[in-house]
Amino acid sequence: MKVFISKNIPLPGIEILKKSGFEISINESGQRLSQAELISACKKADFLLNVGQGTLDADFFENCKHLKGIALTSVGFDHVDLAAATSLGIPVSNTPDVLSDATADIAFLLMLTVSRKAFFRAMQVVNGAWADFEFTKELGTTLQGKTLGIFGLGRIGLSLARKAQAAYDMKIIYHNRSQNKEAERLVDATYVNFDQLLTQSDVLSVHTNLTAETQYRFKKDTFKRMKNSAIFVNTARGKIHHELDLIDALNNGEIWGAGLDVTDPEPMLPNNPLLSMSNTCIFPHIGSATLETRTQMALLAANNIVAVKNGNRMPQVVNVDVYKEA
Ligand code: DGY
Repeated sequence: MKVFISKNIPLPGIEILKKSGFEISINESGQRLSQAELISACKKADFLLNVGQGTLDADFFENCKHLKGIALTSVGFDHVDLAAATSLGIPVSNTPDVLSDATADIAFLLMLTVSRKAFFRAMQVVNGAWADFEFTKELGTTLQGKTLGIFGLGRIGLSLARKAQAAYDMKIIYHNRSQNKEAERLVDATYVNFDQLLTQSDVLSVHTNLTAETQYRFKKDTFKRMKNSAIFVNTARGKIHHELDLIDALNNGEIWGAGLDVTDPEPMLPNNPLLSMSNTCIFPHIGSATLETRTQMALLAANNIVAVKNGNRMPQVVNVDVYKEA
């Protein structure tokens, strides 16, 4: 059987597939494939190990009905038409848990970087604009004892909450569709309604999936309700906040700062005003980008493909309905 891997992955993932007798072909170009190129490569394969956020839409599935399984290398699956996959009986897996701590690190890093204007300050050094020592200009803000609000308190949010509490004794509040009792016990998190999350958070960090319900949940009126001193952090998906409204909110002083690991579009265009503000920091979607984490993600993805070959259920299947008896 054949697997197509849409971009290179760490070697241990490839070794698992080879040991299981798979014939492997990889897009070694380092470039994201066009839809036509991806479909053409998948036509020669039984499985797709899909690296990155390239869209697998209805058209893709229409052309790749023969696939026996798709393993994603992300916890998010908003880029996949799961209904189409399910209707064709194609199981799709994701990579939960293994990236929670790494992604929480990036949220923590953004929170800290923005709070100290560290990205802007470092760029001043890089650009030869390191001015004389100033005592009152471009000051940051301290995080000690402040309130961290988490929108979508799951595994990643809990990891961030633990770090923020250990480092700065931050008070944790959160808003979810349902209460997270484990987090309430572990970090003394308090469940609040959405409005309380907006009005009480000193740092508001987003950790939810992108769905029809969460798309543009943070927009003009939501930013207006936040504290003028608040920092907005998003490491989930760029479409959860409305980017132009975020720029306005920062320009109008409705919120104080923003740290983003996800933007809309990705890559962010180089002339985006968010890149030249003093209270912002933008990363190029690096939440899971450590060697250890990416290796774990590659292993999970490979093992999900091997499971199907061996006649088993994908352990990390996301379209669980695919296994419902007809
Ligand atoms: C994820 O796992 O969803 C990360 O955002 C990488 O896409």
